[in-house]
Amino acid sequence: EKLAKPLTSIREEVLAEADLWAAGGEVPEAKQPLDAGFHLMPNRLLDELASEGDSSELARLQATADRMTELVDKVVVLGIGGSYMGARALLEACCHPYYNQVAPTLRDGRPEIYFEGNNVDNDATQGLLDLLAGESGDWGIVVISKSGGTLETAAAFRIFLRELAQSVGEESVGKYVVPVTGSSGKLFDLATALGCKELFPVPDGVGGRFSVLSAVGLLPAAIMGLDIEALLHGATEMNEHFASQPFDKNIVLQYVAAAHAMETKHGADIRILSTWGKRLEAVGLWYDQLLAESIGKQEQGAMPLTIVNTRDLHSRGQQHQEGKRDKYITNLIVEEGSREPLAIGESDHNQDQLNELAKKTLPEVLSAAIAGTNKAYRDDNRATADLMLPKLDEYHLGQLLQMLMLATVVEGRLLDINPYGQPGVEAYKKNMNAILRS
Ligand code: PA5
Repeated sequence: EKLAKPLTSIREEVLAEADLWAAGGEVPEAKQPLDAGFHLMPNRLLDELASEGDSSELARLQATADRMTELVDKVVVLGIGGSYMGARALLEACCHPYYNQVAPTLRDGRPEIYFEGNNVDNDATQGLLDLLAGESGDWGIVVISKSGGTLETAAAFRIFLRELAQSVGEESVGKYVVPVTGSSGKLFDLATALGCKELFPVPDGVGGRFSVLSAVGLLPAAIMGLDIEALLHGATEMNEHFASQPFDKNIVLQYVAAAHAMETKHGADIRILSTWGKRLEAVGLWYDQLLAESIGKQEQGAMPLTIVNTRDLHSRGQQHQEGKRDKYITNLIVEEGSREPLAIGESDHNQDQLNELAKKTLPEVLSAAIAGTNKAYRDDNRATADLMLPKLDEYHLGQLLQMLMLATVVEGRLLDINPYGQPGVEAYKKNMNAILRS
């Protein structure tokens, strides 16, 4: 309540603008109302599924994912930025940690997933082509680009499409390629020319880094065998929570208030997302992009940094404990693991002196590390907050992703920064194209 503008009134504005936009009304230009659609998306998709059944977008996404699973053993997902990070976060968080390597039965017979088009790395691209060589008819492409003109993705698509055409024949590629793109543009035209069997939209009202809960994230998720309805249910639950809960119970507003207060009153303009578990790293990288690209404007905005513990306690941890007091740490903790706790166990070879910890399990060791780290920070007067995920499954991940997207929009309004658009990124794209074409 002591902030320049109460967060509750910002919430009302954001919700009113989105409703107005959804009803086809005019919203001030500076708010880029078209992008306000991300938080309406999950509700819409689920409503449409309930009313339209098999012809709804969700049902079609699932059917396409199942068709691709029948057709191929490997899927190359091409995309960059908001058209890539979400799908990778979903894969790492919700699928088997060795998804591509394990026996297909351990991933429900779903295809292996490879990401490309998120760089222009000559070695990595050819490395993946090596892996696909000789797999004729066994791999397909999901190409994701809202604008349809991003050079990294477009160049990769051309290269992988050429290989695919050589292996399955030019006339068949339309069966093996599924594009996700805007309703017009270069990729849309190309997909039409290739005769792609299905094409999914990135709605005009949903910007790249806010699009994980549209076909951009949902199609790869469905191909990986994830429960996409549960993801959306988690997100709609968070929408409801955001809209209805008072400030002191509202996780979105609480998160923004604490982070903003730490930044503006205590100089903590490095925002660390301290993830406790390897499966959360890509979720953190997704959030790094969301925060940096949305709020890092007009010489403002906290710098996001994702770390993975306990790994990074052995590297960055030193600085976080004793370095400059410019960091605010939010721990991201999963309360209930998805597998039975594994004990350290007794051994006849006790040279490592671990027998006294024999009954301790890996989750217990992790909990001790979390508590120990938080205590060490607290003893040195360094602020942390804990964000608890009951489980790392689709439903709770849907809640988390939606929470962080809503928080980013609210934070933008608090700082008087338009969270949508990325003019700085556009500058590099323009220069790169000019250099290449000169
Ligand atoms: O968040 C964003 O809008 C960006 O990160 C875009 O997703 C990224 O630049 C890729 O754009 P596109 O989907 O148009 O290829």
